[in-house]
Order: sequence, then structure tokens, then C-alpha cells
Amino acid sequence: MASAGGGNNGGDVLPDIHRAGDSKTLLKSNALYQCFFSDATGARMQYILDTTVLPQEPPCLRELRHLTDKHELALMASPADEMQLLGMLVKMIGAKNAIEVGVFTGHSLLATALALPDDGKVVAIDRDRRCYDGVGRAAVAKAGVAHKVDFREGVALDVLDQLLAADGSEGKFDFAFVDADKANYVNYHERLLRLVRVGGLVVYDNTLWGGAVAMPPGAPMSAMDRSVSAAIKVLNAFVAADPRVEACQLPVADGVTICRRTV
Ligand SMILES: C[S@@+](CC[C@H](N)C(=O)[O-])C[C@H]1O[C@@H](n2cnc3c(N)ncnc32)[C@H](O)[C@@H]1O
Repeated sequence: MASAGGGNNGGDVLPDIHRAGDSKTLLKSNALYQCFFSDATGARMQYILDTTVLPQEPPCLRELRHLTDKHELALMASPADEMQLLGMLVKMIGAKNAIEVGVFTGHSLLATALALPDDGKVVAIDRDRRCYDGVGRAAVAKAGVAHKVDFREGVALDVLDQLLAADGSEGKFDFAFVDADKANYVNYHERLLRLVRVGGLVVYDNTLWGGAVAMPPGAPMSAMDRSVSAAIKVLNAFVAADPRVEACQLPVADGVTICRRTV
């Protein structure tokens, strides 16, 4: 998630770390990964994307990624290499039931739905379904996976609590991907650890927030970056010390943390 605007810091308006026109990857190498969409030379220099990611990207996912790129809030969508990671995780654990917190146009939702078996289901939660209805829903239908998507419009904490209140939902899910309001990540964690089975995965997006989590106290940054990176740091410390999970921090995209429920 990112905003297009800047924040106020001690009188100076500072740009947000994530800006329209830049990719959100932490890997700041145009040779390995296209960091800036408009390369001044016009040359394609994006070794990882060209070698491993884009040749394997399903055409329906590519189409939705390109449609999403045209959206004014395109920066909210997770990148193609992260979609490849999500799909592989879903398949590696043989996930059948999944949860997604934060849908936007449905880019990561489609990646998950494609990776699930034909009788799999992903409960997709967003407080506002307009971006999904306007952009992603048709792409999900065209990809032939609409039957795997159970969209729930609502505030994520409420929807997760509704899921928990339903009989048989504790431990029913294999996989969860969280990519919504960072201030609630720890609250999502508590609920998802009950919904996801032992051995299942809860995956958090943006857990390095452009590197802001490692900046010294008082480092200049926008108000939004300060507040989001503070919330992310709380989550990172929390999961690292949580005896119920094994946690693994990947520097993929904007930082991805995989938590595997152990007890
Ligand atoms: C970063 S976008 C999700 C991007 C998507 N996962 C992807 O990679 O394509 C975050 C989404 O979370 C939703 N959202 C933010 N706060 C929420 C909340 N408290 N409950 C439910 N949805 C929320 C927003 O409406 C937005 O669509």
C-alpha cells in the first residue's frame, strides 16, 4: 500500500517512500530489476523479471497487471515477482482454503486463485469492492477461477471475526495473505493464527516498507511513512518473538514475511 502524496515532517513536506512511477521493490538495481518505470535510455534492463518472472507469468495475470497499472492507485498492487512467490507457496503447502486481506483490483487474489486446486476457495476481504468490481472481477471470470473466490466486502477485522464465529472455521484455512491497513497487522495476526491450521502460512506484505523500518529514529520521512513503518516494526518484532510461529523475512518486493503456524 502507498499513497501518492507526501507527508509533513517538522515543517518540510517530504515525499512518501513509495511514489507513483517507481516500483516498490527493495532491490535498487535497474540491471536486475526495473526500479523506475521510465528508463531514460529506453533500454530494458530487468534481468530477474525477464529471466524468471515474466516468462512464467500466466497471461491472465499479466493482463490484470497491465489493467491495474492504469489505475490511479496502481502503486497499491503487489508486483509480478511477489505473485510468483505467493502462487508457489500456495502450491507448495497444497493449500485448498485461503484468505486474502486487502484485494484492491484483485491482482494478488487472482494469483492465489490460480494456484488453488479447482475445488479450492479464497475468502477475499476488502472494505471497498469497487476496484475489484471495476477491474479485477472480469479478469478473474475470464481466467475461469471465479468459482474459487468468495468476496466479502467489509472491514477486515469484522469479517475475520465473523469467520471465527462460524462453526468449523478454526484451523480450516491453509494460507492467508495480508496486504491492507498496516496498523492492524498484529490484530490480523491474532485472528489468522486461529483460522489457519497448524502448518499453514500467514504471509504479510510490505514488511520492510521501502527500508524505512531500518532508518534511525528521527530520520526524515513523511508522516505516512513514519506511522506505517512504526506499525510494521511492531509486527516484525511481534512475529519474531511469537512462539506460535516460525517467521521468515524475505527482501522480495517491499518485504514479505512468511509465518508458519507451529502450534
Ligand atoms: C494494498 S491494497 C491491496 C493490494 C492487493 N493485495 C494486490 O496486491 O493487488 C490494500 C487494500 O486494502 C483495503 N483495505 C484497507 N484497509 C482495510 C480494512 N481495514 N479492511 C478491509 N480492507 C481494507 C483497501 O480498500 C485496498 O483495496
